[in-house]
Amino acid sequence: MVSHESLDGLSSREHRVIREREEVHGNAHPKALLRSIMEEGEHLLPLENQHILTADQFDQQTLLQLFRLAAKYESNPERFRTPLQGKILISAFYEPSTRTRLSFESAWHRLGGDIMSITDRSTTGIAKGESLSDVGEMFNNYADCVVLRDTRAESLTEMKNSLRIPIINAGNGVDEHPTQAMADIYTIFKWRPELIKKDVEDEKKIRVGIIGVPHKMRTVRSLLKIFSVFHYAFAEVLIFSAESTDLDASLIEEMQSRGLNVRFADQEFKEAVPSLDVVYINAIAWVGDSFETYGDKFKLDCSIPFKKGAMILHPLARGEELSPELDDTEHNWYFSQARGAVFIRMALLTCLVHRKGRVLDVV
Ligand code: CP
Repeated sequence: MVSHESLDGLSSREHRVIREREEVHGNAHPKALLRSIMEEGEHLLPLENQHILTADQFDQQTLLQLFRLAAKYESNPERFRTPLQGKILISAFYEPSTRTRLSFESAWHRLGGDIMSITDRSTTGIAKGESLSDVGEMFNNYADCVVLRDTRAESLTEMKNSLRIPIINAGNGVDEHPTQAMADIYTIFKWRPELIKKDVEDEKKIRVGIIGVPHKMRTVRSLLKIFSVFHYAFAEVLIFSAESTDLDASLIEEMQSRGLNVRFADQEFKEAVPSLDVVYINAIAWVGDSFETYGDKFKLDCSIPFKKGAMILHPLARGEELSPELDDTEHNWYFSQARGAVFIRMALLTCLVHRKGRVLDVV
């Protein structure tokens, strides 16, 4: 018989799952955001059977309704267990992933669907030289939706051209990661729901510092595109980059032309940080089959003079650029960001795959 006091000589306390341990330090509750967005479900209907390739394809109303649906799922995760019952997802990840693959799969499972996963290209016909176009042709026979991550930007269009079911970009080389950007701004809006209003007062607009290399980081590229949709919410977006090229300059120009007040920072990060409401950091860029890390000079830890109440976002996985000592501070919103991605993906999947009437039932 197992003693209450000891298991293998350890006290029972050491075996207990501490469910009440604080999960995130930000106030991530979605109810305030839910109350701030009026339900207009018809904006979601055009998503049915759309491919999701880029953050550029979303307008403001569609995003807000997706955030509303996500907040609804997040507020009451037990309530919606069947919208995707009988539907099958192919989760094809030809590049490593913890969060994106598992959160898409968690989202699909939570909606009642079934999943087939590929986590290693060497176990598929691709190892024998099969094209992504031919693989896509096969996927039509097996599933209702595909989520694809690949090391190359072109992979998406190669597969999409033979698909008759929706495909979602889960990261294509250095190009884009649209659902990550949706999760990022969903976190910001849960934190400050007043930012969704077009007439947000100047003093409430936020200043954001992005540490990253846009032309090498898909997360940063998609984030800027999503920010540009809600340009009125940002007093200023400053980019602190380890390097910059003409590609970066033209992306920034494009974002400025959409109304986003964004520029490369002309001051040191440590000088700017006390005025930043949000610090977004990413240090990893995938190049071919391996990754490079950037920006040794940008390391966030408790010695950085963050503004009171400022949030740190990071798409994760983290390296030395984000010290674990920040995990137990009010600035840690990066775990909340990862958690919210499940609900954003639930919202998107429902709209892409589910029949129209039922999407409106949910919203
Ligand atoms: N944020 C993100 O894309 O993480 P993964 O690489 O673990 O999917």
